Amino acid sequence: MNAITATATTQALKSHLAQVFAQYPVEVAHGDGVWLHSRDGRKILDFYGGHAVAGLGYGHPRWLAALERQSRQMTFQTNALPMVVRERAAARLSKFVGLGLDTVFWINSGAEANENALKLAFKLTGRDKVVALEQGFHGRTAAAGAVTWGALEKWYGFPRRPFDVSFTPRDNPSLVEKAVDRDTAAVIVEPVQGVGGAYEVGKPMLQALRQRCDETGAMLIFDEVQCGVGRTGAPFAANLYGVAPDMITAAKALGNGFPVAALLMSRRIAGQLKYDDMGTTFGGGPMACAIAEAVIDTIESESLLANVRQVSAYIRSSCIIGPVTAVQGAGFLLGLKTSRPAKEVQAALLAKNILAGTSADPHILRLLPAYILNEGHVDQLSDALAQISA
Ligand SMILES: Cc1ncc(COP(=O)(O)O)c(C=O)c1O
Repeated sequence: MNAITATATTQALKSHLAQVFAQYPVEVAHGDGVWLHSRDGRKILDFYGGHAVAGLGYGHPRWLAALERQSRQMTFQTNALPMVVRERAAARLSKFVGLGLDTVFWINSGAEANENALKLAFKLTGRDKVVALEQGFHGRTAAAGAVTWGALEKWYGFPRRPFDVSFTPRDNPSLVEKAVDRDTAAVIVEPVQGVGGAYEVGKPMLQALRQRCDETGAMLIFDEVQCGVGRTGAPFAANLYGVAPDMITAAKALGNGFPVAALLMSRRIAGQLKYDDMGTTFGGGPMACAIAEAVIDTIESESLLANVRQVSAYIRSSCIIGPVTAVQGAGFLLGLKTSRPAKEVQAALLAKNILAGTSADPHILRLLPAYILNEGHVDQLSDALAQISA
């Protein structure tokens, strides 16, 4: 399968949608749990999760109940009017992460959360430089794209970056001292890189960044848009590695499909905020907050973190088979290293009704399944892989 089923121009003649997405040849009609049902009657086991969004899977009863309850009560209200659900969801999220990150700014998307995190770092430090990691991805807006590896060469579009950015290798803690200096406002890092290939940046690197930020006064931002909210088998990757950043950004699985994102910040940062430093219309809407609260509640009450850890270990032990030579990543953000191009393996799996993702690394097949996935589902994946030539 070629991911792009037709050229953008041919498609554009038939569609009213902007032709900016390469699409897989499956038209989804509905989903339940970890299963996708296509319009032509196929039942597909989903290891992609709507690009890391469907943490609870499709149609989870608690998620549906929260959606219905809140929509009957109040669908939307501005941040100018206080609401209990907004406050309660913020308390729940900050308790979930711990690490002293107990102030939440609700926003709509991962890129916006990163945009605001960077803005706060500039404002509070009075500096004008950011350090990011090679192969990192942080979103497509002006600031988030500016700190995304390779964006300028590929799709950035803005005439120039709005601030200075330098990139440092993701696997070399000894270069951190030179990369981060007293002009650095922030370091932004995905503790487990998603688009970069389900790659664990690792504790030594994260610790080196923390230490250097402490020495220089730069702020450490963990972009956990993809790796956060339970995906690594811990509440956040910051918990998994025991390294506390100054800010965390979260989105994707936080809403399980309802758009919601959050910027979590330390008390020290929150204490310096002034009215109008940030703002949003939709962020902090009661639907988004009720859903985020229900997602965290479900992860905790159904022991999904333990399930992620257990089934992740099972994937590691049973899926080095067929074209897969190694497994990297953490929890349910896993990269299967493939001897053949990952795109070919992805296509062969899809022919067997299993959907997996790819990444910027042409030899990494990316798995981002729902936290309710079980070992029986993994057996189906390993059986399918075994039938694909190396
Ligand atoms: C690590 C990371 N940060 C930020 C983003 C951007 O999030 P959004 O698409 O919600 O703006 C993504 C999206 O894939 C991501 O993976």
